[in-house]
Amino acid sequence: MIKPPHEVVFLTSEIYPFSKSGGLADVMGILPLALARLGLRVAVITPFYGRLSTGQYSVRLVMENCPVGYPWFDTTADIYQADYHGVPVYFIDRAEYFDRRQYYCTHKGDYFDNGERFIFFCRAALSAIRHLNMGARIVHAQDWHAGLAMAYLAFWRRTDPYWAGVRTVMSIHNLAYQGRFSYRLFEESNLPLEAWNMEGVEFYNSFNLLKAGIAYADKITTVSPSYAREIMTPEFGCGLEGILTRRKNDLVGILNGADYSIWSPANDPVLECTYSAVDPSGKRACKMNLLRVMGLSDVLLDRPIFGFIGRLREQKGIDIVLEIIPELMKLDVGLVVLGEGGAEFESALLAIMEDYLGRIEAIIGYTEEMSHVIQAGTDIFLMPSRYEPCGLTQMYSLSYGTPPVATAVGGLRDTIIPYPQPGANGFVFSDITSESLLNSARQAVQVWEDRETWQRIVVNAMEANFSWEKSGHQYIDVYRSLHKDILI
Ligand code: ADP
Ligand code: GLC
Repeated sequence: MIKPPHEVVFLTSEIYPFSKSGGLADVMGILPLALARLGLRVAVITPFYGRLSTGQYSVRLVMENCPVGYPWFDTTADIYQADYHGVPVYFIDRAEYFDRRQYYCTHKGDYFDNGERFIFFCRAALSAIRHLNMGARIVHAQDWHAGLAMAYLAFWRRTDPYWAGVRTVMSIHNLAYQGRFSYRLFEESNLPLEAWNMEGVEFYNSFNLLKAGIAYADKITTVSPSYAREIMTPEFGCGLEGILTRRKNDLVGILNGADYSIWSPANDPVLECTYSAVDPSGKRACKMNLLRVMGLSDVLLDRPIFGFIGRLREQKGIDIVLEIIPELMKLDVGLVVLGEGGAEFESALLAIMEDYLGRIEAIIGYTEEMSHVIQAGTDIFLMPSRYEPCGLTQMYSLSYGTPPVATAVGGLRDTIIPYPQPGANGFVFSDITSESLLNSARQAVQVWEDRETWQRIVVNAMEANFSWEKSGHQYIDVYRSLHKDILI
């Protein structure tokens, strides 16, 4: 049998280092490479954003005017391609949709035409698969932006022999973002009317693109085993718990890994001094550097500094972090925050900094470099998420010897061994309130003061290993359940 050029084609709205607003980009920057290393032939399709970082990768035009047929029958896209360490990444270019300053929204809210932009993306990506003869056997969609591709393929393969053998996988990175639009967009999408029902794309009279993915994909994955269980309950299911429970036999939780070629203090070019579990002494130099660049008081060199990095949204519990600051500061500690998001949280952080000069510093914005400097230079990482599908920042904080204080949800539960259990690498609390967060933070400070115990926890943290190879094998099992001969 002649092998097809690509067994799996990923559809994603972000891929690091080309584009990134959160963890999805990190996952797409490494999972395809991990699968390629295991022998799978993979490709990735993503939008050509105006703010794409092409860096060291050269991007070339591979097809002009690829027919898309959406929203008008004669609409087309140009397709570019880059070689990303042996994995081809295809970029869908249509300036009116993607050549903007941001990916999805401005400070005023979501772009008004996000529905149209990502329906276009799905249609263009499928068209590119066909016109560039990618030979995909599995189309693997990420999050709501790519969800509609699952529905198109489910219908097209009934009648079009080109798609007949193609199987589909939908990965959920965050169920709270569903991509809900109006019936008008459904009508324009050209899906058959039979898709508009409770078991299809309709959700309380809206057109729900993530639900389309869940309803029509052959298999569904999410990014940790705990989140896979949680999303079948009303508390975490965001209204989709019913359909997810009905699809339970096709739903699997596969824990993300961390990319240790980027997130390891032993070889991080950004750090003042590298360090490792065997010789963690360089972490102190990183802490001194953090104090200097952030203008924090030298007194903190011998007191614990808390770090927080993430989107300033309720998901991440930044509101309860703000609530505990006065009590936290009574413990003689420091706090460094890096994030952007909700305007109310941004201004509250900037205001509270004024009350604790030299003790609290917040960077409102997005800077990849500072995220490394903070992971290395702080002592304890705060991650009181209300829900966390997987969470990568706690994996990075573990790697940098900065034990997390986190809630017992989703991927946090699956990656942190809470003190005082044997092998503890962090602190976990169940009740998502500011009181519980404060108690857990107090406990961490107390343990920090016991240098020997703390050092053991730091070493346990640095020795944790969330390998993409292991997760890659689990994805291959999912693909093989759809095409037995994959990778043979
Ligand atoms: P989520 O995807 O829900 O935002 P994750 O923990 O999975 O959360 O991944 C977040 C990713 O985004 C990490 O790589 C983290 O370092 C990065 N990140 C988040 N906020 C910022 C920021 N303000 N500056 C730099 N990196 C950030
Ligand atoms: C989402 C989730 C986060 C997860 C990331 C990558 O953004 O919020 O928990 O780690 O996707 O899967």
